[in-house]
Amino acid sequence: MSKVVEVNHPLVLHKLAFIRNKETGSKEFRDLVSEVSTLLAYEVTRNLSMEEVEIETPICKTKCKMLEGKKLAIVPILRAGLGMVDGMLKLVPAAKVGHIGLYRDETTLKPVEYFCKLPEDIAEREIIVVDPMLATGGSAIDALTMLKKRGAKNLRLACLIGAPEGIEAIQKAHPDVDIYIASIDEKLNENGYIVPGLGDAGDRLFGTK
Ligand code: PRP
Ligand code: URA
Repeated sequence: MSKVVEVNHPLVLHKLAFIRNKETGSKEFRDLVSEVSTLLAYEVTRNLSMEEVEIETPICKTKCKMLEGKKLAIVPILRAGLGMVDGMLKLVPAAKVGHIGLYRDETTLKPVEYFCKLPEDIAEREIIVVDPMLATGGSAIDALTMLKKRGAKNLRLACLIGAPEGIEAIQKAHPDVDIYIASIDEKLNENGYIVPGLGDAGDRLFGTK
């Protein structure tokens, strides 16, 4: 069974309160989503493998730990996942970025696939799939399946807000994928929106409604 890490750090919760507020406009919303993504990146990368290296300080030689240099990829689920990419890249600037385009059909709530462009060596990379919202889990489940079909083996999922239903669905469909999330909310409403949530993440990021 996969691990679920709720990153309920005070800075994350403080910024999330502004993100949730319906009075927060697109620019501030985008900036805050990016900032919270940087804080999430700190947790998602916590167990990256390390190696011992010898360096010389101005005082003496010493052994230090450095990242082993396994290759990373960040894969946003379009559109809203795009809002998390820059914030994550601040901590892992050498990561490559792949894109998966999925939208949720408004009546069936089922994801519809429209784009997939990944780094050529995706099968060898440690992958962080990013999407601010985990509602029914359908979009993230499909994105993870698309990645696995292309050889991906080492996957994590980072989200801002999730519903318990979505988390359970991911754990069932992809028990090998750990989930890092800023808040696990109460439930989904009858329209498939997360309660209390933040509304439609894509529309709020890009000002489309
Ligand atoms: C939102 C969100 C997720 C999906 C979550 O995207 O960014 O991708 O819904 O819902 P689910 O867990 O029930 O699949 P949306 O389909 O609204 O597309 P957008 O990002 O282009 O606005
Ligand atoms: N997608 C969103 O953007 N928000 C929700 O609450 C659910 C799905």
